[in-house]
Amino acid sequence: MEEEAAERGNLAGVRHILLVLSGKGGVGKSTISTELALALRHAGKKVGVLDVDLCGPSIPRMLKVQGKDVHQCDSGWVPVFVDQDKSISLMSIGFLLENSDDAVVWRGPKKNALIKQFICDVAWGELDFLIVDTPPGTSDEHISTVESLRPYKPFGAVLVTTPQECTNIFSKGGGEELAKHAGVPFLGCVPLDPHLAQSLEEGKDFIQEFPKSSAFPALASIAQQIVDRTSPQGS
Ligand SMILES: Nc1ncnc2c1ncn2[C@@H]1O[C@H](COP(=O)(O)OP(=O)(O)OP(=O)(O)O)[C@@H](O)[C@H]1O
Ligand SMILES: [Mg+2]
Repeated sequence: MEEEAAERGNLAGVRHILLVLSGKGGVGKSTISTELALALRHAGKKVGVLDVDLCGPSIPRMLKVQGKDVHQCDSGWVPVFVDQDKSISLMSIGFLLENSDDAVVWRGPKKNALIKQFICDVAWGELDFLIVDTPPGTSDEHISTVESLRPYKPFGAVLVTTPQECTNIFSKGGGEELAKHAGVPFLGCVPLDPHLAQSLEEGKDFIQEFPKSSAFPALASIAQQIVDRTSPQGS
């Protein structure tokens, strides 16, 4: 047991790792990552968010912690805490870049090394969930992310899609059909909701502020299903 903890290094205290993926850009991955973190926090969980989008990190804005400094400690980088009781912590490339254009010129090996460091060198401490928000597509970053996470046995991935992304036969209820087709659980359908867009823009806690808004039940249910599936009786 102790040996296993040592091998897991900075991730030794992380109970469940979840990846958030999509085939295409702009479909709502960072939105889902952010809202899952908030919903899980409201369910009493400790959550870390790792923003691996090297070209367009958006989570710091969505959680209203942009421009924060990242400090080092003996075991690595200390993530940025989003709230006073430290129930959500975030590590994003956005914190390390003085100028967001810097990321664009980075090439494969440097990116891969950074992702590996990201995954191994953040001092997360004890977390119920680590949510990993990925960039669009299936790029080098994805391969590095999945390869670097593999030894830590992620619990699973949430695949985000929109009806427009699918072919005609899937054009309605696209995600549900796709899930059936792939034989994976369908977690839910999040409607377009102006309150959600506004919350993300202003870094507000949608889950706390807009419980009557249309996207709330779907997001709360997705978070609950994840809690159920990861709890001992659900697994
Ligand atoms: N359910 C929703 N209702 C309203 N607006 C939404 C919803 N989901 C996402 N958005 C908006 O859509 C935009 C894109 O979402 P988001 O940044 O989460 O996508 P992404 O998949 O992370 O993009 P990228 O691939 O560039 O990382 C955001 O401006 C967000 O505010
Ligand atoms: Mg994103």
